[in-house]
Amino acid sequence: MTKDSQRAKHVAVIMDGNGRWAKRKMLPRAMGHRQGVEAVRKLVRSVEGMGIECLTLYAFSSENWKRPDEEVDDLMNLMRKFIKSDLPEFIANDVRLKIIGDWRGLAPDIVAMLDDALEQTSKGKNTLAVALNYGAQDEIVRAAKQAAASGDITADTLSANLDTADLPPLDLLIRTSGEVRLSNFLLWQCAYAEMSFVDVLWPDFTPEHLQAELDNFADRERRFGGR
Ligand code: IPE
Ligand code: IPE
Ligand code: MG
Repeated sequence: MTKDSQRAKHVAVIMDGNGRWAKRKMLPRAMGHRQGVEAVRKLVRSVEGMGIECLTLYAFSSENWKRPDEEVDDLMNLMRKFIKSDLPEFIANDVRLKIIGDWRGLAPDIVAMLDDALEQTSKGKNTLAVALNYGAQDEIVRAAKQAAASGDITADTLSANLDTADLPPLDLLIRTSGEVRLSNFLLWQCAYAEMSFVDVLWPDFTPEHLQAELDNFADRERRFGGR
């Protein structure tokens, strides 16, 4: 692939740093998460113009249940509010919502809201995939069980049973907040993804930051093991 033809079609983001953002401003953690949702909203509005076909956001991991109940409740309430307030905009802007992870294990009212949102956006053009109750190891185990049930475990049959099976290959993974780890996100899909670890806390991450990462991506030489 020539360098200048390289465009990221599928970008995933580990949205990290809400807690530190709030702490720096001496605000409660909940305010950090609330500002984090604002950053999501701005980003989702901007991706179409950037040529991204799929944006995958890590919103709640299968390990985030370890947090205090109050924080988990805050995050779930933000999710409820976000779906309610932003669904009309997704529909109007032709955004297809997709959820990855074991999301049917969330509270029944959230599952019902998501089912409805998925149905209403199913014909959308560009995809916003939200990882909810997501853990890559869990995803791989679920996919392996399904592949095994069909009697054939190969990289292809396993991939075809991942939650991301209908998404384009992952081109670029971005993590904010300066942490350099994957925290159980898209472990399989990252095999040949380019990675960016950005020293900005999630609530401060803007579409301009994303554009800078896309520009950087365009100059990277991807080899996929070849030469
Ligand atoms: C990311 O921000 C949001 C979620 C994990 C839901 P954090 O809450 O992890 O913020 P830090 O890492 O403590 O700063
Ligand atoms: C990863 O961030 C999960 C999300 C962004 C939803 P965490 O803040 O939970 O990850 P660790 O605990 O620092 O690895
Ligand atoms: Mg964190």
